[in-house]
Amino acid sequence: MLPSGYPILKRFWYCIAPSATISDKPFPFTLLGEAIVLWRDSEGRVRAVKDRCLHRTAKLSLGTIENGNIVCPYHGWTFSGTGQCVRVPQDVIEKPNPFGVPAYHCAERYNHVWVALEDPIHDIPEIAEFSDAGYRQVIEFREVWSANPQRIVENSFDPAHIAFVHKNSFGTSDPSIDPFTLTETEDGFIFENDIRVLNPEHMKDALAIEEDETRRHSYNRFYLPFSRVGRIVYPTGLENILCTFLTPIDDTRTQFIQWVMRNDTEAEVSAEKVIAFDRLITNEDKDILESTDFNVPLDNSEGVELHMVADRPGMLMRKMLRRLAQAG
Ligand code: FES
Ligand SMILES: [Fe+2]
Repeated sequence: MLPSGYPILKRFWYCIAPSATISDKPFPFTLLGEAIVLWRDSEGRVRAVKDRCLHRTAKLSLGTIENGNIVCPYHGWTFSGTGQCVRVPQDVIEKPNPFGVPAYHCAERYNHVWVALEDPIHDIPEIAEFSDAGYRQVIEFREVWSANPQRIVENSFDPAHIAFVHKNSFGTSDPSIDPFTLTETEDGFIFENDIRVLNPEHMKDALAIEEDETRRHSYNRFYLPFSRVGRIVYPTGLENILCTFLTPIDDTRTQFIQWVMRNDTEAEVSAEKVIAFDRLITNEDKDILESTDFNVPLDNSEGVELHMVADRPGMLMRKMLRRLAQAG
């Protein structure tokens, strides 16, 4: 599976950037190989259209925003947030109907901007804690990884890599796999387990736990195609909910967006410490994931990989995506 071979992927919401990043200046982005441009219109609504002028193909993202519309930098043709061409400063020979560029679905949720290239099959994942005053949001990362989004999301549900990839952070030296459960949902599944983890000196601050070792209960939710909302609960009652959204840029690049929801306060653990903890762990994952093949076989027709019991969540994801592609 390379993203370009699965047009069904256009029918999902993808997280593009924190809301504060999108202003009345054009913001170019590449989603599933499609060059798009985002901006805020005069009402403050986020808009996204194809980043290619229909006159002589110039990039609209090099233009400007005027009265909420985007103006092509080449000859000034102007497009509204729905993609309609609303102004041609010269005499145009022919005006097709419709007269404009493709526009895409936009949404703002969880202080982030989301885009779907085609009618989305499922809604943006529900994160109830976002509107619960007992939780705060710590925005962590927006960066580009050189890896397939399927590999990155599978890794978030892979209990076997912890003893190896995270041996310098929270992983114990015990490679055995604790029991886990998998429960299928309409748009993904729920993975649950309970594991022993190390709490080395350099990580203690972020958890506010003194012991050198602790346990974490994971209620890790997968959402098709490449999202996870993973609640980790520590014995102290601390909840750290990892919200990780993978956005396919093209067949070799994925945007990694992550924030956490926590039920503690800034005075107890600063956002800086929360981010430093996840930076360490995320870099451990990134280094290994960027070494993997870009193609991920969803079944044997796309290539052969060997599996173990701990790969069951990843295998279920592949099956769900294949099923969806066949149906779609
Ligand atoms: S290329 Fe955009 S107006 Fe000419
Ligand atoms: Fe990991």
